[in-house]
Parts: sequence; C-alpha cells; structure tokens
Amino acid sequence: MARFPDSTQAYGAVARALHWLVAALVFAQFALGVYAANLPVSLARLQWLSRHKSLGLAILALMLLRLGWRWLHPPPALPKSMPNWEQRVALVTHRTMYVLLIMAPLAGWLYASAAGLSVDWFGLFVVPDLVEPDRALAAVFKALHLGLVALLALLIVAHVGAALRHAFVLRDRVLQRMLPWPSGSKR
Ligand code: HEM
Repeated sequence: MARFPDSTQAYGAVARALHWLVAALVFAQFALGVYAANLPVSLARLQWLSRHKSLGLAILALMLLRLGWRWLHPPPALPKSMPNWEQRVALVTHRTMYVLLIMAPLAGWLYASAAGLSVDWFGLFVVPDLVEPDRALAAVFKALHLGLVALLALLIVAHVGAALRHAFVLRDRVLQRMLPWPSGSKR
C-alpha cells in the first residue's frame, strides 16, 4: 500500500490533531481514574468508573486509528543536529508510549470484564466482555492496568520534559512541528 510521508519539517494536520486530542483525553483519564478509584464504594463511584471505562475505550480506538495513520504517514525525520543516541531514545520512547496507550486500556478492559463490570459505553451500548468473570484473573488484570498506567505516567513526564528542552534549551523546531496551530506547521 502507498505511504505518504509527512513533510520533513512538520507533522500533518491529522497527526497533530490526533496527538493533542489523545493528550487531552489521557490527561482527563488520569484525573478520572484517580478520582473514581479513591471514592468510597457507592453509586457515584460506579458512575465515575463507568465514565473512566468509556473514555478509556475511546482512547484505545483513537490510538488504533493513530497507529494506522502513522503507518500510512511516516513522521518527519528528527533534526540531524540531534546525536544518534538521542534519536534512538526518542524513537524507543515514542514506540513505548504507543504500546502503553494500547496495552493500558486493554488491561483495563480485561480487568472490567473479569470483575464482571461490563462497559456500558457512555450509556449508548454495552461493549462485549473480553473474558468471563473470574476474581483471581481480575486481581491480575487490575495490577497490570495500574502498573501500565504508572509506567505511562513516567514516560509522559519524560516526553513533556524532552519537548520543553527542544523548545527552550536546544531551540530547534521539534516542538513547533507538532504544535496544533498553523504557524507551527511552516514548511
Ligand atoms: C489510556 C487509558 C487509561 C488510563 C490512562 C487509565 C488510568 C487509570 C488510573 C490513573 C486509575 C487510578 C489508579 C489508582 O489511583 O488506583 C485507573 C483505575 C481504573 N481503571 Fe483505568 N485507565 C485507562 C483505561 C481504562 C479502561 C479502558 C478501563 C476499562 C474498560 C479502565 C478501568 C479502570 C478501573 C475499573 C479502575 C479502578 C481500579 C480500582 O478498582 O481501584 N481503565 N485507571
């Protein structure tokens, strides 16, 4: 299948839109997850968890879309001024974030299924369970979900730190080419 690389200097509009949409939703998702998980057992806890589960599946769907889009539209090359090892670290970090943004919601979905808490997607339809209810399995998937989201949080901090270093220390165009507004996409 033909692939259409984004410009060597900027990401395309769709890649940028998907990046900032997922970033905003993941930020909200962390807040929702921590808030809901710390509520006492109640109807409100179930309702907030239900929103968390629905939003998590939306993020999973967007990430699959993003993965397909990235495959069809390879990202622009990093500046030659970046040492090879830094380019490799950036590549590994980005790939790991893709893996975690797919695996963490999948683990959450497996946990909800094993715990017998099917996802009613924003009250519109019930999402099929991935496994039969099983308490022991639910405990494993819960630990997996929490471990993966903790790892994701660490990588997001490193990722934001690296982006700010590019913008304010190295003063190259690495952050600009992903910014959502048009001036960031100058070619
Ligand atoms: C990128 C997507 C996701 C992120 C970043 C995320 C993040 C989190 C966070 C931060 C917590 C709170 C941990 C704590 O404070 O104990 C949490 C809990 C939880 N998540 Fe997710 N989550 C995501 C997707 C999902 C999905 C798709 C589901 C289910 C379909 C799900 C189900 C749950 C459940 C049930 C809990 C409560 C755990 C408990 O019983 O305490 N999550 N998640």
